[in-house]
Amino acid sequence: MPSYAITGASRGLGWAFLEEISNDSSNTVIGIVRDKTATDKRVKDELNGRPNITILQADITDYAALKKAAEDTSKITGGHLDYLIANAALVSKYDGYDGIGTLGSDPDQLTAQFNAYMTTNVLGNIHLYNLFMPLILAGDAKKVTAISTGMADLDLVNEFATYMGPLYAMSKAAMNMVTAKFSAQYKKEGVLFVSISPGFVDTGNNDVSNLSPEQMEGLQAMVASFQKYAPHFKGAITPQESVKAVLGVIDKLSLDQGHGGAFLSHLGTKQWL
Ligand SMILES: NC(=O)c1ccc[n+]([C@@H]2O[C@H](COP(=O)([O-])OP(=O)(O)OC[C@H]3O[C@@H](n4cnc5c(N)ncnc54)[C@H](OP(=O)(O)O)[C@@H]3O)[C@@H](O)[C@H]2O)c1
Repeated sequence: MPSYAITGASRGLGWAFLEEISNDSSNTVIGIVRDKTATDKRVKDELNGRPNITILQADITDYAALKKAAEDTSKITGGHLDYLIANAALVSKYDGYDGIGTLGSDPDQLTAQFNAYMTTNVLGNIHLYNLFMPLILAGDAKKVTAISTGMADLDLVNEFATYMGPLYAMSKAAMNMVTAKFSAQYKKEGVLFVSISPGFVDTGNNDVSNLSPEQMEGLQAMVASFQKYAPHFKGAITPQESVKAVLGVIDKLSLDQGHGGAFLSHLGTKQWL
């Protein structure tokens, strides 16, 4: 009975992971969300209240709530966890299409947003990893995955001038290093930590109405850089396509093959689109 815990399971990719993994009734699936009532209702309405799903409440910036989620997970699984998927993230419209130089015109706002990104996408996940480590160490699969983004790849940024989404990309790049550091510490105990980008996925966050002229320019530059980077790129994939691909990659990766701390795409390579 493999067990999985997924953060940010209320919607988008997190919900798709919850649905896909719980399709197999032998999997025990724990979804960690901010709004438990709404997600419980969604599970009841859309998944017929699948008995292999439990929804726990925690904002990943709330250490006490995460600790309680780890304790409750332990009670459900009997003290172990096979797979942890750190999917929850702040994905803000604030820096979606602007460059860091443009955002610098309002330093107070830049500071506040920087802190929000780092607190959620980096520190929240450090606490998540630490609190769930005893369960992962006691599990069989021992696989921890951070959902990252190709936007955090230095080569992509440098070669294709992807200046947009700067604070988001910085937080994800920092999280790649967090995952590598955990890997460096725990691989001798058999734990595989990896960062996987899910591709470009339509999770309903691509509303481009109300963009400023600079943001519209940023959006156009992003599309142009994607087309130059990947001429085959036709547009966003569905959450279902993405999670199936990511789960397939998680399945194939192993410490024996040298994947500890790796940063790869949903294709299992460094091809992000
Ligand atoms: N979509 C893409 O194309 C794409 C591309 C590359 C990487 N990613 C990565 O894939 C992951 C999921 O993306 P998505 O597109 O599904 O994003 P999304 O639709 O914006 O969903 C974000 C999820 O994270 C949760 N969340 C945000 N802040 C949280 C917090 N402080 N504590 C707990 N949960 C929190 C949200 O919960 P609420 O419902 O409570 O707000 C929601 O479930 C993210 O890590 C993102 O960076 C996505």
